[in-house]
Amino acid sequence: MFTSIILAAGMGTRMKSNMPKVLHKVCGKQLCKWVIDASKEAGADNVVTIIGHKADMVKEALGNVTEFALQNEQKGTGHAVMQAVDFIKATEGRVVILNGDTPLINAETIKKAVEYNAQKGEQATVITAILPDATGYGRIVRDNDGGVLKIVEQKDASEEEKKINEVNSGMYVFDAQSLVYALDKIQPNNAQGEYYLTDTLEILLKAGKKVGAYAIEDNDEIRGINDRVQLNEAENIMRSRINEMHMRNGVTMRIPESIYIEADVEIGSDTEIQPNVTLKSGTKIGCDCVIGQGSVLDNAVIHDNVEILSSVILNSEVDEYTHVGPFAYIRPNCHVGKDVKVGDFVELKNSNIDDGTKISHLTYIGDSDVGKRVNFGCGTVTCNYDGKNKYRTVIGDDCFVGCNTNFVSPINVGDNAYIAAGSTITEDIPEKSLSIARAKQVNKEGWTDKRNK
Ligand code: UD1
Ligand code: MG
Repeated sequence: MFTSIILAAGMGTRMKSNMPKVLHKVCGKQLCKWVIDASKEAGADNVVTIIGHKADMVKEALGNVTEFALQNEQKGTGHAVMQAVDFIKATEGRVVILNGDTPLINAETIKKAVEYNAQKGEQATVITAILPDATGYGRIVRDNDGGVLKIVEQKDASEEEKKINEVNSGMYVFDAQSLVYALDKIQPNNAQGEYYLTDTLEILLKAGKKVGAYAIEDNDEIRGINDRVQLNEAENIMRSRINEMHMRNGVTMRIPESIYIEADVEIGSDTEIQPNVTLKSGTKIGCDCVIGQGSVLDNAVIHDNVEILSSVILNSEVDEYTHVGPFAYIRPNCHVGKDVKVGDFVELKNSNIDDGTKISHLTYIGDSDVGKRVNFGCGTVTCNYDGKNKYRTVIGDDCFVGCNTNFVSPINVGDNAYIAAGSTITEDIPEKSLSIARAKQVNKEGWTDKRNK
């Protein structure tokens, strides 16, 4: 149990973006949301995000997943934490400080750092990493016995100090009341004229408190994002983590490097995901499915044993044993039942298709309720829009819809009706009827010879 404070007030100039840096996404989730989620998973019972640059936008995007403290002017990391001093004062145990632009930090690491801090009985523990190239980071200065003395920023470091390759990750575990004490004493007398949070370590040592460092195992976890290149690097790492997690859960992936799966997607075991598939937020896929090459699923719920080939499914649900595609487009608000066929170049929108129905090719069904075991011939179109309003088409069970039928909605078709190919249906069809709505064929024999004379 601890309070976590996430620093997210900075501009993020190098992103060259109208959007605050921490709202940029990695695998479909905002940078700072990754950090918020990791700290909650690690046991934070209260999360406070420090916002400043475009604060309203950040607040609106994150909603009530975190408390907020406003830092009007960015006067340094120490100053940022001071804005949350009321939350810190109200904390009985520990405070964990994290950065809103380091999405790769794992819950497990935060947990371990908190445990380490408790085990050692330290008032401040800084999370550190050993980097081959430490340029730009604050360096951890230790005494001859290996004890942490202080952190020196790159801009304030001597030539000797610049050679140190143990760096400050910018993440810390503090005893709450010791942090309150130290924040009060920070002075902005450094190269950048800022209130450095890093100065709290020296202040606490001088006050006789215990200060230490917890070295991280995987340096990737402290990667901060400053520009779009780093954003992409972090996303590549996150993408492999996500894909690996699914593979370990029993999902087969063909060329996983080409598969993009967002954070909260669920996939059942023995499902196969083929190359270049995109699975976006909210998507849930059952067991024994095939999601074929190039498919895009966004907020789609797919039940067991479904095969989807090179198709797009948005905000819709597909029941078990159904086949979709290749090249089908299922637009928002569709429910496709069990054992249905949605074939090539079929578009569905805002429609319910009941069990056993076959829509094999080149068909548009919008704003419709289709019953069970209906067979659609090629090229059926629901004319659901009159230029102003949209109307529904309702088709009963066991109907046969001939090729090239147009339904000029609103239309109701009773159960067991047959519609002749090429019909333009403008009136309701009673059950068990045959409807023919096309011009009668006329054959003029010998016509060609007469014309050629
Ligand atoms: C900081 C550390 C440095 C460490 C590095 C790790 C200090 C003085 N230095 O340096 O030792 O190696 O992080 O990445 O703490 N922020 C605010 N308000 C501010 C200033 C910053 O909210 O007034 C936020 C930023 O948005 C960012 C985080 O704090 O998320 C870190 O700030 P940044 O300016 O990147 O610090 P660094 O110079 O990188
Ligand atoms: Mg930084």
